[in-house]
Amino acid sequence: MLIAGCGDLGTEAGLRFAAAGHEVVGLRRSPEKLPSGIRGLYADLSKDVPELPTDVDIVVIAVAADASTEGAYRAAYLDGVKNVLDALERQALEPRRILFVSSTAVYKDSGGAVVDESTPTEPTRFSGKVLVEAEELLFARTRGTGTRPVSLRLGGIYGPGRTRLIDQVKTGQALIPAQPRHTNRVHRDDAAAMIVHLTTMDQDPGPVYVGVDDHAAEMGEVLRFLAAELGCPEPPTAAPGGASDAGPGDKRCSNARLRATGFEPSFPTFKEGYRALLAGEGVRHP
Ligand SMILES: NC(=O)c1ccc[n+]([C@@H]2O[C@H](COP(=O)([O-])OP(=O)(O)OC[C@H]3O[C@@H](n4cnc5c(N)ncnc54)[C@H](OP(=O)(O)O)[C@@H]3O)[C@@H](O)[C@H]2O)c1
Repeated sequence: MLIAGCGDLGTEAGLRFAAAGHEVVGLRRSPEKLPSGIRGLYADLSKDVPELPTDVDIVVIAVAADASTEGAYRAAYLDGVKNVLDALERQALEPRRILFVSSTAVYKDSGGAVVDESTPTEPTRFSGKVLVEAEELLFARTRGTGTRPVSLRLGGIYGPGRTRLIDQVKTGQALIPAQPRHTNRVHRDDAAAMIVHLTTMDQDPGPVYVGVDDHAAEMGEVLRFLAAELGCPEPPTAAPGGASDAGPGDKRCSNARLRATGFEPSFPTFKEGYRALLAGEGVRHP
């Protein structure tokens, strides 16, 4: 198992692979941060990839951009995918599956309609555009080979150490959007479990899966729930047309295709996930 870009999500997936008895190698610029169980190798994926173990069976690309700029996105996702594929080709390695961690940012605002794998990708921002390019590169370069490419389009990850909404509610900064919109979320542990499931399941995976929980909740529903759990006042509603209306748009992403493969989330909705976080469960991997 090779995990290229082995941060919080990659490490959680790697530890799960290791617990299942697989040998796991993690590529990143600070491999010393990886826990025992994952063998770290230095790599700057935006530049080059070192000699890889010759028995690579599964590759997971879970690199994240250093900054929210188009240049950083291109370096991480596009150059990252290209350099991993080049390294595999250079050594004539043909892993069974390569899973690229993508994002639901590849879909445009659907006005609250259901979005799934059959929805065309029409990203409106550079982030989604670069991810689509990276996915297409992976699909093009693996066509006609023995490698199955998989793009896992994750919703917004929350989990240990990712407490932005909790902090906003606690500090009274949270605002319920004036224009109701849905938030598509996935707990970090379920995202890692999806990676393990799709790369190790017996049946051949399809090319694309939407990785979200079972319930696209309205942002107001999430904020009100957190306020009640924390014993904080209910957040006020924002003034119409303000910053809270300028978010990533409104879409309701469906995990039906992933569910149809037999995957079951441990945190089917934000309620189970946030209750676990508020109980202090889990750690964010450095
Ligand atoms: N956050 C979200 O809500 C969200 C939503 C959808 C999808 N995603 C995707 O989820 C994935 C994982 O996110 P995460 O939370 O695990 O991020 P993370 O903790 O920041 O991990 C990403 C890792 O990539 C490594 N990396 C970055 N640039 C690199 C480079 N040039 N060469 C080698 N390694 C590099 C970093 O390690 P070093 O610094 O040691 O190199 C870092 O540990 C990403 O693909 C992200 O796009 C996230």
